[in-house]
Amino acid sequence: MKLLSVLVFILCLSFSIFGQKVGYLIEECVNNRYTQNSCEKVFCEPWQRCIDGSCLCKLPYQCPKNGTSVCSTDGKTFRNYCQLKSFECQRRQGSFLNRGKCNPQEHFEIFLEPDYDTKGFVQVALNHEQKTFICGHGWSMNEANVACRHLGFPKGADRAELDHPELDHPDNASSECLRVTCRGIETTLAECTLRRSNRTDEEKVAKVVCYTGAHTECSSGEFHCVNRKCIPLNKTCDGINDCGDSSDELCCKECRRGSYHCQSDVCIPRKYLCNNERDCLTGEDESHQLCRGDKTARGDEREEIEANEESMDEERKKIKTLFPKLQCGIANHTVTRRKRILGGNEAKEFDFPWQMAITEELAKVNCGGAYIGGCWVLTAAHCVRRIYHYKVWTGMLNSINMTTGMDVYKLKKIIVHEHYNGKTYENDIALLELIPKDRRDSSCYPHKSVPVCIPWSQYMFSSGHQCKVSGWGLKEGLVREYTLKWGYVYIMGNCSDIYRDRYFKGMECAGTSDGSVDSCKGDSGGPLVCYDSHNVGYVWGIVSWGENCGQKGYPGVYTKVANYFDWISQHIGTALISQYNV
Ligand code: ARG
Repeated sequence: MKLLSVLVFILCLSFSIFGQKVGYLIEECVNNRYTQNSCEKVFCEPWQRCIDGSCLCKLPYQCPKNGTSVCSTDGKTFRNYCQLKSFECQRRQGSFLNRGKCNPQEHFEIFLEPDYDTKGFVQVALNHEQKTFICGHGWSMNEANVACRHLGFPKGADRAELDHPELDHPDNASSECLRVTCRGIETTLAECTLRRSNRTDEEKVAKVVCYTGAHTECSSGEFHCVNRKCIPLNKTCDGINDCGDSSDELCCKECRRGSYHCQSDVCIPRKYLCNNERDCLTGEDESHQLCRGDKTARGDEREEIEANEESMDEERKKIKTLFPKLQCGIANHTVTRRKRILGGNEAKEFDFPWQMAITEELAKVNCGGAYIGGCWVLTAAHCVRRIYHYKVWTGMLNSINMTTGMDVYKLKKIIVHEHYNGKTYENDIALLELIPKDRRDSSCYPHKSVPVCIPWSQYMFSSGHQCKVSGWGLKEGLVREYTLKWGYVYIMGNCSDIYRDRYFKGMECAGTSDGSVDSCKGDSGGPLVCYDSHNVGYVWGIVSWGENCGQKGYPGVYTKVANYFDWISQHIGTALISQYNV
């Protein structure tokens, strides 16, 4: 008995070391080996697009046309930075050299002094001028990784250091240094923001040790980056991309000081807060709440990134704004009266402009659905099993007093998920294609309707998030309901503990702790909508099943739409549902 417990103890200890089970990190997530190219965790760069969860290179023509021209190291002029980066991304020759057209005068050289090896002081020579040190101020792993990558070390730096330059060094006469700020994803220092600065004799300058490690095992106390670099565990979840592929920042329960925790469990530096670029998937780093008035949230580093019109980082941001923006998920947001779905409120016009009603006979709503753009409505597979003459209604508030502003559509096609299982409710998802009302209107776009956005990542919303479910299903006492009702429910992360072997991947639970609000019979196929920090609605779930309705301890079960993003886009095309290069 005693021996067993000692054994168990040793086993646990070794698991916690090899399994990197340490405070800040989430182990199941770490096992998925996410990097800066995982679009379930981060936004792809403008020269990439997300395909099956990975950011892949775009072709230059998929970049915007306008912008400032730039020159590559192999002397090619590109229309803009995006086009050059997409070219480079395809592993064609050449990386960024300078802004503007190519010009034989332009040069950018980087040196490691004194002995040009794997470590030393970093020096830069611009346009054949003398070598200049890099200022110590602002020198971090972000910059060090870029410097090492530039020097031919693909995994970046092992360490960023600061030191006094050797006294007898000839370049020490210079009283200048270059202040470098990188985002950490650049391939050359030339892409970072460089500014000349005065240097005093006492000031330390940048030094680097590039990563040459060929370890296959990291030691205890170290984190195994996806690119196989080992970094100290205490450098994970601090908003600094030590790994060089960001893998140390993407699976964090919480974040260390100086960094900010996105809902998606990603740590970002505080200086990225309120900088007009969305870094967290659901935009909380740019929310009005956080960014209103004073910008204290960003902390003391904020002077560092004052908009510098000349920087390639600004250029990258500007390019992001040039892509067409998908219009989805925006409803009229008025506070609805408290009124008594099950335990819900009455919807008002335009509150749920994506809500659709599916009927077999006139005036009897069997199921709900969600308009997702084009001629497409998302619903549950169990709503449309039989081949029937379904009709889809838009703009309906009351199924008896049919008011004006409603449109009714017949169906052209019903696509039920090929692995839908009617016994287990696995893959309870279907797409309905509407027949346009008239020939001129090939894209449908029902009157008074707005598509709801499709979530592309399972990390956008998590346990505890408040979302809205809506429908014409039964109300308290299992009484029929004729008006569209909605209610707040909360995502519950412990669905497999509750429903055991009835729960499958691709399902999500949502409800309230006392069961007072729930979807019920007749709500099926309707949307569970979660809102990002700018109040944009995403159809996170489709009403699927549950143990009775509103029973305490037994929340409603929903089809988890994020798991079916690729399935949906395969059928209706990526253009209708892709935002942010996803
Ligand atoms: N399957 C039901 C329907 O066809 C929906 C049940 C939802 N149940 C729940 N407790 N949330 O309408």
